[in-house]
Amino acid sequence: MVVCHCNAVNDRAIRAEILAGALDVDDVAERCDAGTRCGSCRPVVEALLAEHGVTIRRFAAA
Ligand code: FES
Repeated sequence: MVVCHCNAVNDRAIRAEILAGALDVDDVAERCDAGTRCGSCRPVVEALLAEHGVTIRRFAAA
């Protein structure tokens, strides 16, 4: 199914990036462009990350 309609990215592409090591929504965005425009798909990307057990969060350096 298409998750990111702005960039025509489906769940299979996002899952592939998660399995390849994507750590969070921004990382998925960098890798396959999902979530880089309107942002409405980002909660779905977050859910896919959680489904795969990815709970790592990156924090900006102080
Ligand atoms: S639907 Fe993904 S950025 Fe708009």
